[in-house]
Formats: sequence, structure tokens, C-alpha cells
Amino acid sequence: MQIRNLRFLFDVPRYWHPAGRAVTIYTNNLSIFFPAGERFFIASVKAHERFVTDAGLKEDVRGFCGQEAIHRREHEAYNRMLAAQGYPVAELERGVERILALVTRVLPKRWQLAATVALEHFTASMGHGLLADARILAGAHPEMAALWRWHAIEENEHKAVAFDVFRAAGGTRFERSFIMLGATIIFWLKVIEQQWRMMHADGIAWDLAEWKQLARFLFVTPGPMRELFSLYLPYFRRDFHPWDFDNRALVARAAAATWEAA
Ligand SMILES: [Fe+2]
Ligand SMILES: [Fe+2]
Repeated sequence: MQIRNLRFLFDVPRYWHPAGRAVTIYTNNLSIFFPAGERFFIASVKAHERFVTDAGLKEDVRGFCGQEAIHRREHEAYNRMLAAQGYPVAELERGVERILALVTRVLPKRWQLAATVALEHFTASMGHGLLADARILAGAHPEMAALWRWHAIEENEHKAVAFDVFRAAGGTRFERSFIMLGATIIFWLKVIEQQWRMMHADGIAWDLAEWKQLARFLFVTPGPMRELFSLYLPYFRRDFHPWDFDNRALVARAAAATWEAA
């Protein structure tokens, strides 16, 4: 697993996605989660490192922490740009931090790792959708397209690491399924709230046409939510493993097309 120490130039037009304002905001919205999210993911995996005896998995944990730390750094820079554009980033980030602080305080350590496993299933599935369907970023500003492709590739490269650590730590199907249900509800409610608040900052929160355009993008064309749902359900299977869905060829192709051509 490669740790690519990339830096992006967050100096792009406010509406950098050709599918419109709400779609640009939706993509920016997802970035709000990462500074606190990646910190939580790394901490919960590291807290279970002592259960990892397999040399390969130990190496993967190192790669996972390295990749996520750089994602965090770049999304911090991304979010600083959003703040400069006038979005209430500090408040929104605090909202995410508050949830994760509560989770850290009240949930047993292994359940915290189950939350990471659940959210990593989302990041990998959404990342897969992005890599599999070129329409999602078609015509987007190249710097933003490059950032999201990079993140999508690495989320898939390390998609099983938190899961494998969870299993090594004795995590059960009940724990991860139960936590997945909670994580799904909290995550998507937060996405909707943040979407509303960011659209509000732009004065388009009540613009029905904008919401319709976003819904059409997410559910119809290109419709990444449909793909996401089909990848979501297998998570609840008794014998689920992230690599059951083997997208290694796609991820390797995407990485080659992104970096090796240069
Ligand atoms: Fe990440
Ligand atoms: Fe990740």
C-alpha cells in the first residue's frame, strides 16, 4: 500500500462542478467530515494494534494510518478554502467533532472501531462509485477531480484494514451491524443538515430547482446512490469481507491512469 504524499492547490472557482451549485456543495459537504473523521479512524485502529499478529496486516495498518493522515491534511486545506468562501466551516466541523467525541466517550473501544469499519465501508463504496463512473466528475475542475480520485483510490486500497483489525480484536457481526445502522442514520442526517446549511450560506437553501438537480444527480444520472445502496447491503452478511467485492483491477487501473502516465 502506497502512501502518496500529495498536495493540492485549493484555489478553484466556488462552483467547480458543472452539475451545478448544489452538486458542488454536496461534494464540498463530504469534505467537512474528514479532518475529524480521519483522526477518529486512525485512533480507533491504533487502539487495537496489539491484537494484530499477522505481519502483513501490521504493514497494512501502517499504510492505512499514513494514507488517512495525508487525507486529513489535504481535507483541512480544502476546508480552509471553503471557510474563506464564506461557508460556516468551523461550526460544521465542530458538529462532527462533537459526535465523534460523544462516541469516544460512551462507546466501548471495539464499538468505536466498528464505527470506523462502518464508515470505511461508506468511503470505499462511494470511492468505488466515483472510480467506476467517469460521469460523476466529468467536466469538474481538474484539481478537485484529482483530489477526489486520489482519495477514492486510497480508500479502496485500504478498504479492508480497519475490518481486519476489528476481526483480529474479536469484533462480532452483531457489533458491526448494529453500529452500521446507527452510523448510517447519523451520517446521512448530518449530510442533509450540512447540505442545508451550506446551501443556506449561498442563499439557495429554499431553491427547489437546486434540490431537484442534486436529487437527479445522486439518484438518477449518474445516480451514485443506487450503486452505493447495492454495495451497502452485503455488509450485513454473516461472512462479509470488504474484498468479497473485488475491485482491485479497477483501482489499479485508476491509479495507473492517474500517476503512472505522468
Ligand atoms: Fe481517507
Ligand atoms: Fe479510509
